[in-house]
Amino acid sequence: MMKNMAMRCKLMLFGIYGTVFLSVFCGCTDKTSSFRPGAVWADTDGVPINAHGGGIYSENGTYYWFGEYKTEGRAGNTAQVGVSVYSSVDLYNWDNRGIALQVNKTDSLSDIIQGCIMERPKVIFNKKTGLYVMYFHLELRGQGYNTARTGIAVSKNVIGPYRYLKSLRPNAGIMPDGSYNDSMDYLLRDLSKGQMARDMTLFVDDDGKAYHIYASEENTTLHIAELTDDYLGYTGRYQRFFIGRYMEAPTLFKRDGCYYFIGSGCTGWAPNAARSARATSIWGPWQELGNPCRGENAELTFGAQSTYVLHVPEKDLYIFMADRWTPANPIDARYVWLPVTFEDGKPVIEWRETWKYQL
Ligand code: DGJ
Repeated sequence: MMKNMAMRCKLMLFGIYGTVFLSVFCGCTDKTSSFRPGAVWADTDGVPINAHGGGIYSENGTYYWFGEYKTEGRAGNTAQVGVSVYSSVDLYNWDNRGIALQVNKTDSLSDIIQGCIMERPKVIFNKKTGLYVMYFHLELRGQGYNTARTGIAVSKNVIGPYRYLKSLRPNAGIMPDGSYNDSMDYLLRDLSKGQMARDMTLFVDDDGKAYHIYASEENTTLHIAELTDDYLGYTGRYQRFFIGRYMEAPTLFKRDGCYYFIGSGCTGWAPNAARSARATSIWGPWQELGNPCRGENAELTFGAQSTYVLHVPEKDLYIFMADRWTPANPIDARYVWLPVTFEDGKPVIEWRETWKYQL
C-alpha cells in the first residue's frame, strides 16, 4: 500500500515537473483562442512570432503570414536574416515555417546582401505560371532609404525557399494616367530611372489582375501600378493617388464591389493617425474617409501602423493588421490585429484588449 502511494506521488511529481520542463524549456504552450492586440504573441513553439510589416496569403484553408524577420538592437532595423513565414489554420496559432527568402550572406554585390533593408513583404500566387510571387520594399545596403526599390522573388512552394529575381524602380520612362494639374517635381525627376517605391502592398482583384500599391515621390504620393499577367513586372499603366498627402503603410481590400484603403501618415517609426478611403474603381476617384480608429489612443492608431487587411470571406471578417514598432530593439515590435467593421460604408476599427471571431 505504502509502496503504491509512494509510486503514485513519484508519478505525480514526474508529471508536474515534466509539464513545467516541457513548457519552460521546450517552449510548448497552450493553444491560443483569442487575439490580444499588443501582447507578446508566441508561435506554436512558444517563441514570439517574428514577421513584421507582414501580409497574409491563404490557400486551401491555410493562412501563410510573411513578414520581416527582425533581430535585436538597432542593426535589427536592417535585414540580417530575411523574410519569415508562419502558417495557421485558425489565425490564432501559428507554426514557424522558417525563412522564406534568405538574405545573401556572401556576395557583397547582391541586392539583398545582409544589412540591406527589406520591408513589408507580400506574397501572391500566379495561376498562369504556377509561381508564388513575393514583392518587398528594398533599400540597397548602406544607402539609407534613398534607393527606394521594389524587390521581386519567386518560389514553386508557398513557404519557399524564394529565389530572388531582381529589383527595380517601377515604370521608368512612363507617365501615369490621370490629370497633370498637381505638382510633378519628383515624378519628373525620377521619370527616366523609374519611380521611387517604398512602403507597399499587393492586391489581386477578382479578375486576377494584380496591383502594386507603393509610397512614391519621396513619400509625398501613393501610386497604384498594374502588374503584368505573370506578376513579375509592370504593364506601364499606373496612377498617382492622395497626391501630396504623405501616406505610407498602404493596405487595400475589397468589400461588396467597393475598394477600401487604410494607411498611415508619414512619421518614421512613430505612430500617427490612420487614414482611410473608398473608391468604386481601383483607379479612383478615391474619397478620403478619415481616421477609421476609435477608442483610447485612436489618434495614434493604438500605437501601431497598418500593414495589411486580411479578408476572411467564410466568416465575413476583415482583420486590420498593424505593427507597434520598437526601433531601438526591433525584434520586440508587437502586433495589433483588430476587426474592421463598416458603418455607412466607412471602415471602423475599435480598440479591444482581447477579441475572438464568430465561428
Ligand atoms: C515607416 C514605414 O512604414 C516602415 O516600414 C519603415 O520604412 C519606417 N518608416 C522607417 O522609418
